[in-house]
Amino acid sequence: MSDDRKVALVTGGAHGIGRGIAAYLLKQNWRVAFFDLDDIAANEIVAAFGDPANLLYVRCNVADEGDVKLALRQLISWGSRLDALVNNAGLADPVTGAVEDLSLADWQKRLDVNLTGPFLMAKHSVPYLRLTRGAIINIASTRAMQSEANTEAYAATKGGLVALTHALAISLGPEVRVNCISPGWIDTREPEAGQEPAPLSARDHAQHPAGRVGKPDDIAAMVHYLISPQASFITGQNIVVDGGMVRKMIYQE
Ligand SMILES: NC(=O)c1ccc[n+]([C@@H]2O[C@H](COP(=O)([O-])OP(=O)(O)OC[C@H]3O[C@@H](n4cnc5c(N)ncnc54)[C@H](O)[C@@H]3O)[C@@H](O)[C@H]2O)c1
Repeated sequence: MSDDRKVALVTGGAHGIGRGIAAYLLKQNWRVAFFDLDDIAANEIVAAFGDPANLLYVRCNVADEGDVKLALRQLISWGSRLDALVNNAGLADPVTGAVEDLSLADWQKRLDVNLTGPFLMAKHSVPYLRLTRGAIINIASTRAMQSEANTEAYAATKGGLVALTHALAISLGPEVRVNCISPGWIDTREPEAGQEPAPLSARDHAQHPAGRVGKPDDIAAMVHYLISPQASFITGQNIVVDGGMVRKMIYQE
């Protein structure tokens, strides 16, 4: 049976924002594949969804070129096409300690996953995306523009990802559009041993000009818009989805 629905690939779809993006796109009638390294969480998601025609999990380390090539082949043999690549997988904890103590190995590990990963994924997806006039979304961070102390490696990877986005957009247009989303604080805490995480405080929410901390669906809705035909005049951009925090002056009284 032929299926002409669009296929999206989300990296890092077993948890957090990536899981939210995958679930959102499924609800919008996309077929979705996700790459991750957490087999247990990924297989639980697939089992709960229960429809292998619409949701595929492939184990893939996005920082390993051999893995990326093999996983994409698996994706194409399942889905026959690729319309959107969402580079979301990342080492998401920004704090790596004092720069004097940051080892080259730790710095390199973050670059490998957060920046080389999206490059490898884009490189090997582009032949398929050209065929569908598809789109790439890179998930960066507001930390590409502003910083807390001791976050050098993470900030550098996200700044690099914003730049990789506009470089790809210029190289790949008009066939493939490439945009970046920079989330602010998105609450991705998961229940532990059946226990819901404690609610965030009123202060956590109130400090945001939009009045609340973000949710994965805030990012997923922007992904869905940017990969849609309605966004066909938008490429090379970094869209900040942060409840207004990067626009807020924070000098203390
Ligand atoms: N949560 C936030 O507040 C926030 C804010 C700004 C940006 N981001 C970015 O959004 C993305 C998702 O963040 P999150 O908070 O959902 O993180 P998370 O840790 O909850 O999820 C990350 C996912 O990526 C997977 N992953 C990690 N390394 C991988 C690799 N080498 N290959 C394949 N999969 C791998 C993990 O297994 C996990 O499923 C990250 O790129 C992060 O930097 C998050």
